[in-house]
Amino acid sequence: MSINEKLNLKGKVIVLTGGAGQYGRGLAAQLAEAGATLVLASRDVEALRKVAAEEEKRGFIASAYKFDQGDEESIRALCAAVVAKHGRIDGLVNNAVYRPAKGTPAAATPVKAWEASMKVNGVGLFAISLVFAEQMGTQGFGSIVNISSIYGMTGPSLSLYTGTSLGAGYGDYFFHKGGMINLTRYFAGVYGPKGVRVNCVCPGGFFNNQPQPFLDAYCRQTFLGRMANSEDLGGPVVFLLSDAAAYVTGAELAVDGGFTAH
Ligand SMILES: NC(=O)c1ccc[n+]([C@@H]2O[C@H](COP(=O)([O-])OP(=O)(O)OC[C@H]3O[C@@H](n4cnc5c(N)ncnc54)[C@H](O)[C@@H]3O)[C@@H](O)[C@H]2O)c1
Repeated sequence: MSINEKLNLKGKVIVLTGGAGQYGRGLAAQLAEAGATLVLASRDVEALRKVAAEEEKRGFIASAYKFDQGDEESIRALCAAVVAKHGRIDGLVNNAVYRPAKGTPAAATPVKAWEASMKVNGVGLFAISLVFAEQMGTQGFGSIVNISSIYGMTGPSLSLYTGTSLGAGYGDYFFHKGGMINLTRYFAGVYGPKGVRVNCVCPGGFFNNQPQPFLDAYCRQTFLGRMANSEDLGGPVVFLLSDAAAYVTGAELAVDGGFTAH
């Protein structure tokens, strides 16, 4: 098989969680363009139906499912529904994230918010990885891509936020994004013998019209001099889901314009 035949998602059933958000919308578009039979899943199914309709209008195959990553039964129901409809699951992209501390002072993240975060981003991440890896292990093939962050690799760069009302994020985020990187290695080790690959990408900050002092400072800290856009994550994720990455597992790939290589 030629490299072009391997480096695409034609005929692959790919589940993307959180497909209407900042990174999620661009990922949905690029997975669809790569040929995936796209299954979008999150709590806000109305937003996903809109994304699925837009992608179908472009000639691609997409559907929307409601699920709550904080609820194991909901995760199991999602997996069962996809298998019932498509017969298998070739890939899962763990992109959804819950930010319950948003709006509180960062240094004093309420413990209740931390607990709520862990239910979705910790326990829920483990549950969805387990349920889907079990299904893929039964099939004998499958690829999971976890979307972590530069803030799973480093501590907060406080100086970037000077002169703005932005904060450097919340402690729970640094905890679960860092944990996601090593959980990737754990699942890659346990499910590798069953034909399942598990990898992790660590994106940098997404351009979202942030205040100029932040943009200037952030861009100076990347080799490529800019923040990420909606097309930056798709290539690495498509590669990791595709047969071109058949010998890649347990890997952590920064997609950050060089932010963490400084
Ligand atoms: N935005 C950034 O600058 C940035 C930077 C680095 C990494 N990331 C990572 O990229 C991924 C996407 O981030 P984003 O900023 O695009 O997210 P977002 O906040 O725009 O979207 C998050 C999505 O997760 C879904 N979600 C939240 N709780 C859920 C639950 N309990 N069950 C099911 N779905 C749920 C939401 O419905 C939403 O669609 C995340 O994993 C994030 O950590 C983002």
